[in-house]
Amino acid sequence: MSTSVGVQTCESIKNAMVCLALLPRFLMAAVMFWLLDFLCIRKRVFFRMKEQEDDAIDPPLCISDSNRLFSLESLKAVWHGHKLDFLKAAHLGHGAPNTEVVQLEDQRRSRILDYAKDKRPLILNFGSFVQQNADIADSVVVYIEEAHPSDGWMSTDAPYQIPKHRCLEDRLNAAQLMHLEVPGCLVVVDSMENSSNAAYGAYFDRLYILQEGKIVYQGGRGPEGYRITELRDWLDQYRKRLEKSNNLVIHV
Ligand SMILES: *[C@@H]1O[C@H](CO)[C@@H](O)[C@H](O)[C@H]1NC(C)=O
Repeated sequence: MSTSVGVQTCESIKNAMVCLALLPRFLMAAVMFWLLDFLCIRKRVFFRMKEQEDDAIDPPLCISDSNRLFSLESLKAVWHGHKLDFLKAAHLGHGAPNTEVVQLEDQRRSRILDYAKDKRPLILNFGSFVQQNADIADSVVVYIEEAHPSDGWMSTDAPYQIPKHRCLEDRLNAAQLMHLEVPGCLVVVDSMENSSNAAYGAYFDRLYILQEGKIVYQGGRGPEGYRITELRDWLDQYRKRLEKSNNLVIHV
């Protein structure tokens, strides 16, 4: 009895600490959303961002005029994202969480690290943008909970209107739709416990590279941190290192 009270107290203290830690960045995001709902400000900000973007590869941040940003649902989603990011188990240089996922193709249960081959880097893509690096790296797209479900923070910019997944079947069906857009890549879905999402702080979207069971690249929290260019830079560096070591072997 007293231990369960103790555990509960610990939980509440932990929750309170998390809330305190997240409050400043959450309030910042809320104020930003509120400001961006003034279309004149939104246009100016996005125009400036577009000017600064030197690389067209990263998916552009853009929101159509009809989408309101400051709403209860959007704030809930932002809080959820910050919380997952804060509590994630995945950290650069540390072991990669080997969470359970379900293969889209045959609905077989597997684990993240099952997709890593030998010493080859494995790109974990919690998003939909696909880059092919078949020569030096493998990649797997992990479909997690919907960023903009039609019964949550709805967005008219979303390609499909998908409600929150209530069961694995829903999630697999939604992933199937996404798979049609990016055929030819390996897609797995998060379990209904959302364990990969939690372990990797993946919501809304995020990029990782794993190698030999470790996290060797950790992208920022999406959408603003979802940078294909960063991923590409890492792979370019890796390719150079590989070539150098190959040359050494040949010359010996
Ligand atoms: C996982 O995410 C879904 C939303 O896609 C949600 O309905 C469900 O309750 C979550 N599961 C847990 C255990 O939190």
